[in-house]
Amino acid sequence: MSTFRAPKGTYDLIPPASATHLAVRETLAALPRLAGYGYVETPAFEDTAVFVRGVGESTDVVSKEMYTFDDKGGRSITLRPEGTAPVVRAALEAGLQQGQLPVKLWYSGSYYRYERMQRGRYRHFAQIGAEALGSADPALDAELIWLADSGFRAFGLQRTRLLLNTLGDATCRPLYREALVAYLALLDLDDDTRRRAEINPLRVLDDKRPEVREQLVDAPLITDHLCEACQQHHAAVRTFLDDLGVAYAEDPRLVRGLDYYTRTTFEFVHDGLGSQSALGGGGRYDGLSESLGGPPLPSVGWALGVDRTVLALEAEGIEVAGSARCEVYVVPLGDAARRRSVALAAELRSTGVATDIAYGDRGLKGAMRGADRSGARFTLVLGDRDLEAGTAQCKEMASGDQSSLQLATVVEELEEKLRRAVS
Ligand code: HAM
Repeated sequence: MSTFRAPKGTYDLIPPASATHLAVRETLAALPRLAGYGYVETPAFEDTAVFVRGVGESTDVVSKEMYTFDDKGGRSITLRPEGTAPVVRAALEAGLQQGQLPVKLWYSGSYYRYERMQRGRYRHFAQIGAEALGSADPALDAELIWLADSGFRAFGLQRTRLLLNTLGDATCRPLYREALVAYLALLDLDDDTRRRAEINPLRVLDDKRPEVREQLVDAPLITDHLCEACQQHHAAVRTFLDDLGVAYAEDPRLVRGLDYYTRTTFEFVHDGLGSQSALGGGGRYDGLSESLGGPPLPSVGWALGVDRTVLALEAEGIEVAGSARCEVYVVPLGDAARRRSVALAAELRSTGVATDIAYGDRGLKGAMRGADRSGARFTLVLGDRDLEAGTAQCKEMASGDQSSLQLATVVEELEEKLRRAVS
C-alpha cells in the first residue's frame, strides 16, 4: 500500500471491474449514435458563471456542491458538475444553432460534485449524455426517452421504472408557483424547509420526510395548472411514448435538482439501489440558451449515471460481457522463441485476436500459471526446438486438449479454432 489513497468520495476503476464500466458506457452511448447524435466533448472545467447562470443559483448543485477555485489568472473556474450547460455553451460558441436543427449531440465523461459520499453517490462520477438543441417538437422528447429506455433494456435490467412529469413553462409555472407558495405558507415547517420553500418551492415537494410528506397530500400539483400549450405538449409526448411501447408512470411530484427545466421532465429509477435510486434523468430546457446569452433554442436531453447503472446490474446479478481480456497466450521458451513470439503476437493482434505473452523468465510452470490467470482460450507454447521444426504446441485451456500447429499457418489455424470455440 502507498501513503496515498483516492480522494474522499472517489474510487478507482481497476480491471476486471473496469471492463463493466466500459461496457456500460459503450452500450448506453450506442443508441444515441444510431439516432444521428454526434459526439461532443467540452473541457472538464468552465467559467463558474456557466453553471451559476445555467443550472441556477438556488440549486444544491450550485450553492453547495461545486468545486470552484480561482486559477492563476484570477478567473473563477468550476469543475463541471453536469454536462448540459457546457454543451449548450459550446454549441452557441460554435454557432451550431445557425445550421440544421435540431443539433443532436452525445457525450461521455467525468463530472464532479462535492456531495456527501454514500453508495451510489460520489464526488467524481461518470455520465453518458444526449442533448437535442433547437426544436420544440414533442417527438424529440419521446425519441430521447426511448433511447435511454432502450439502453437500460439492452442490459436486461428488469427493475427500472420511468417517472414522467411536466413542469410547465414561463406562462403557467409562475402561477403554479404562486399557488404552491401560498399552500406551503400555511404548513408547519422547520426553518430550513421554510427557507427552501421561499427560494425554490418546487423542491419542497420532493421532501422525503414523513412529517413533511403528510402535510403535502393536498398540495397543488403542476398538472392541474398547465396552460393549454403545455397540456398539448405533454399529451403528445405521452402518445409518442405509447406508440413506442415505452412504459412510464406519471409523477406530478417529480422535481429535478437543476433549475433549467421546462415542460417534460423524467427520471429512470431502479428499485434495488436504496436512496440513490436515480439511474438517469433529463427533460426539456427551453430557456437555457437564453440564460447563457444565446437566442431562443428549445431543447431536450438526458444524462445517465454510469456508476449507478453498474450498481443496478450488480443488484440484479447481470454480468455484462466485456470483451475477452485475452484469447491467446503465447509462452516462449528460450531467446530465439521469444523473438518469434513477439512477432507472432503482433501478427495475431493485427488480425484482431487479443493476445498476450509470458514476459520475463518464469519457466514453463510459472508461464502456464500466467496462461491460466489470463483467461485465454488457447495457449501457444513455443520452444527453440519447435522453432527448428517450424511448429508450436497449442493447448485449449478449457478441455486441456493439445495439438501441434505449423508456425507458417498458425495465425489462420488459431482464428479458425477461435471461431469454432465461439459458435
Ligand atoms: P442529474 O439528474 O443531476 O442530471 O444527473 C443525471 C444522473 O447522473 C443521475 O440520475 C445519476 O445517475 C448520476 N449522478 C448524479 N450525481 C451523481 C453522483 N454524485 N454520484 C453518482 N452518480 C451521480 C443532470 O446532470 C442533467 N445534466 C441531465 C440532463 C441532460 N438534463 C437535460 N439534459
